[in-house]
This record gives sequence, structure tokens and C-alpha cells, in this order.
Amino acid sequence: MKTQVPRSELPDEEARGRLEGIVNDQSQPGSETQSPEPVVRQNVQQQEAGRLEAIQRGETFEPEIHDCVRQEEHVLNVDGFSFWYGDKQALFDINMPIPKGKITAIIGPSGCGKSTLLRSINRLNGLLADTRHQGDILLNGDSVYGKSVDVIQLRKRMGMVFQKSNPFPMSIFENVVYPLRVDGERDKKVLNEVCIQSLKGSALYDEVQDRIQDSALGLSGGQQQRLCIARAIAGEPEVLLMDEPCSALDPVATIKIEDLMQDLKGEYSIVIVTHNMQQASRVSDYCAFMYLGRLVEYGPTGDLFTNPILPETADYVSGRFG
Ligand SMILES: Nc1ncnc2c1ncn2[C@@H]1O[C@H](COP(=O)(O)OP(=O)(O)OP(=O)(O)O)[C@@H](O)[C@H]1O
Ligand SMILES: [Mg+2]
Repeated sequence: MKTQVPRSELPDEEARGRLEGIVNDQSQPGSETQSPEPVVRQNVQQQEAGRLEAIQRGETFEPEIHDCVRQEEHVLNVDGFSFWYGDKQALFDINMPIPKGKITAIIGPSGCGKSTLLRSINRLNGLLADTRHQGDILLNGDSVYGKSVDVIQLRKRMGMVFQKSNPFPMSIFENVVYPLRVDGERDKKVLNEVCIQSLKGSALYDEVQDRIQDSALGLSGGQQQRLCIARAIAGEPEVLLMDEPCSALDPVATIKIEDLMQDLKGEYSIVIVTHNMQQASRVSDYCAFMYLGRLVEYGPTGDLFTNPILPETADYVSGRFG
């Protein structure tokens, strides 16, 4: 599949050419002027190179967060958040505001902490023994890690979709209305209405309307994943967290999920972890590049893919490492 950079008018070749330019010419983007004097540029190169090596050495590192991310209204605010599995630190002082009603993608090499960050947002990591954290995350201004937080109530405010779809062994109907059942909702009219709306919202209704009482396990992989999205949105969450939701799906099912995400954004704020650079560039409004547990660069997806501040980001999104 060809690389697509939807927010850019540039055709692929030209976009790639710009990326090459960024990698070769390490001057700061955004300036319309020509490159500075060679000697200055060499200094910049020396500073820029080795940034990831500095992270490997455990040195502190100030991420590049593009101004426009801060100017958005935010649904989530990751505030000085660090996380440990036993002695192993997996996240290092992450500060990351996440825009409301937008799709934010988290990218980075395997093991850099993407899933840990996502699971920290709804405190799923807290279910594991011998873990600890520092800092906090705010959901619409409310502390996620505050002492008095009811974790069950908190998780209801967030829907989560995993890499492997996890329909429950019950009917399609019962899967979708599960969040309402947990809340004690018994009114059949309400349950029916929510089921239909959620299935429509997840673009599955047309395919399953005549078998809503059949087992969810009879659905295809792509349908099961959309069912999980239906279940996630049935509870009307404030944010939808998706960890590689398409990695087990074929291209057709993937496109359906991506189209669905576009339909859902606005009403929902979506955070998606993906290994697929094309997918990140196709679906997300904002994109965060992580490396070894640290946020490295975070900005509008078009900028991150065609005009990143850091050469390391250019290297990663163009497939030069990772
Ligand atoms: N349950 C766990 N116990 C101990 N260490 C863990 C656990 N889960 C993750 N880690 C470690 O934390 C670090 C971050 O892992 P994480 O799963 O968040 O990475 P990731 O970016 O999602 O990787 P991938 O792209 O492969 O899914 C890794 O070094 C990993 O080995
Ligand atoms: Mg992961």
C-alpha cells in the first residue's frame, strides 16, 4: 500500500522527497528561509544526532510538543506520569495533553511503552501485581489516580478496544448492552434502542440486524472487532482507547474500522496505538512518537509525517529505524 498523508496536498513522491530533505538537512522546519551557515548547521546536527542515544543513556529529555496541540481543548492530560513494572521503569515523566473530539495516534518501536501508556489511562495496569506509578492523568479535569477515585466508575467513562477482539460468549445483543446491564438497566426499550444505535454507530447494524440474538462468536474477525467498538460506545464513554485495533484484520476490515473512527471522532475522543505508519497518517489528527518510555515528539499528524521538528522523528516515520 502506498503511503498516504491526507492532510498534505503533496503526492507521495514529493512527500518522501521532503522527508529525505529533513533527514539530510537538519535545520528546524517552519522557517521559510534557506539553511543557516554550514558551521551553524553542523552544530545543530551534532545536537540533534544522538538524541535517541541520550535517551538510551537514561538522560533527561525535553520532548518537542507542537504549540497547536496545547491550543486545543483537551479530554485527557497526562501529567508528569511515570510507570514501573517491578524495578523496570516503562514510562518516564510523560506530559501529554490529548485533544478533545480528535483522533490521537501513539507510535514508536515495539516495547517503547505505547500500550503501557494507554492502559495507564484507564488504570488497567493497576490490576497487575508489583506495579507503581508517579504523577497523574486527568480525564476532563478529574484525577484518574486520585485516592478517592472509584475505578469502576472511572472505567465506565472510557471505552477500550484491544488488538484481539474479545466478544463475550453471549448474543450480539447482550454483548452490546453489557455496559448498561452492569449499570442495572433493565428497561427493554432502552436496551433495544442503545443496541441499535451502537451497532449503527459501529457500522455493523446492516450486517447483523437479522441475527442480533445469535451468538457473537459466529461473527467474522472484523465484525467482532466492530462489535467490541459497539460495546465500547454503548456506555457513552468520554474517550475511546484503541490498542492496535486492526492488526489482526484484513485490509477491507481495516478500512471499515478506519472509516468508523472518522465517523466517531468529534462525538468521541479517540486515542489509538498503531504500528502501522500508513494507518497513523491516514486516520489521526495528532500523532505522538515515543521511544524507550519517553515522549519524543507530538504534533499534528501532517506535520509529524512531512515536517517534523526532530530528525529522529523523520527517521522513524520514514522507516529508517524501529
Ligand atoms: N506485564 C508486564 N510486566 C513486566 N514488564 C512489562 C509488562 N508489560 C510490558 N512490560 C514492559 O514494559 C515496556 C513497555 O511495554 P509496552 O507493552 O507498553 O510496549 P509497546 O510500545 O506497547 O510495545 P508493542 O509495540 O510491542 O506492543 C517493555 O519493555 C515491556 O517489556
Ligand atoms: Mg503494545
